[in-house]
Amino acid sequence: MIIPVSRPHIGAAEITFVNEALQAGAISGLYGTFLDRFETEFAEFCGSKYAVTVSNGTTALHLALAAAGVGKDDEVLVATTTNMASFFAVLYLGAKPVPVDISRPTLTMDPEDLARKISPRSRAIMVVHLFGQPTDMDPINELARQHNLVVIEDCAEAHGAVYKGRTVGSIGHIGCFSFFANKIVTTGEGGMLTTDDPVIAEKARSLKALAFGKRNKFMHTDIGFNYRMTNVQAAIGCGQMSVIDWLVERRREIGRYYSSRLSAYSDYLDLPVELPGTKNVIWMYHLVLKGILDDKRSAIMAALQERGIETREGFIPYNLQDIFVERGWTAPEECPVANQVAFSSFYLPTSPVMTDEELEYVATNFISILDAMI
Ligand SMILES: Cc1ncc(COP(=O)(O)O)c(C=O)c1O
Repeated sequence: MIIPVSRPHIGAAEITFVNEALQAGAISGLYGTFLDRFETEFAEFCGSKYAVTVSNGTTALHLALAAAGVGKDDEVLVATTTNMASFFAVLYLGAKPVPVDISRPTLTMDPEDLARKISPRSRAIMVVHLFGQPTDMDPINELARQHNLVVIEDCAEAHGAVYKGRTVGSIGHIGCFSFFANKIVTTGEGGMLTTDDPVIAEKARSLKALAFGKRNKFMHTDIGFNYRMTNVQAAIGCGQMSVIDWLVERRREIGRYYSSRLSAYSDYLDLPVELPGTKNVIWMYHLVLKGILDDKRSAIMAALQERGIETREGFIPYNLQDIFVERGWTAPEECPVANQVAFSSFYLPTSPVMTDEELEYVATNFISILDAMI
């Protein structure tokens, strides 16, 4: 049996809608009914007033920062453990990312470290709802209010996650989503920006499409980008929205299954958690090895691979990335908690289309590998 770490669900609705888009000749990012429809349905799903389709999650983050007015020499406080796209987006603008440590067990931004790192140059905060786990937003929004900072939620991995009754993407000022093939909602490549602020929404809409003029299209109003999603991608997105509750619930079910099989190994594994008042949507079943298994990640991943089970390492935080440390932009000791898990975490196959038999195969083989090592 070969079990990839991720596989997308592509159902009948996605195929029907893509055919409709193709037959209508509506294939670009400027025309077609699926673009508006996807935005409307996604905004409603998040509980946001506005949603703006974009070409991917990285461009959503870049656009969000640009629309919020972040510029050269501004500081943006970013959760250090993330896909480096979060940091790249800040760097595209000539702004300075400041890595903020994470807290355990959620592995999301630590509000106390955030408070320590806010400076007079701070302009925005970027939280990352990592692996489907919502960040503790109340203290972060409060700090943002006190210091007049924009809060951007990187929701690339957390479609549908809930914090105290609010869906991610609607808790800060701007939410940014990825629809890459392995994400909870996919359009192949794609992204979305969500906000309740009409000015930000309008600015993002203009900037993502070359900032064409209103009266004379070719008298541009700003230095725009082409970050458009196509109507064909949006057609896939509308198909996904027709089964969104299942897409989220199936991942949570997978999480519950893995946890039920692995809970006896709590001396060796930190499993995903779901704190009271939150909903963790388990983008990937990510675990941290500890105790005598702390330095056994490579051996465990190799043993799983031998049995046809693909896994992936956890993210290496910004403060440990050679390209940034070598330039003197950060230093390893800036985020000690992130460093504790940087080389001892990985994730198991997690996708909605996994069968119960495949799940059983992964859990049983993982347990037999663990039993041989402890
Ligand atoms: C946390 C996070 N932010 C941003 C991105 C970038 O999204 P994309 O690959 O769609 O550009 C990803 C995933 O790829 C991610 O996991």
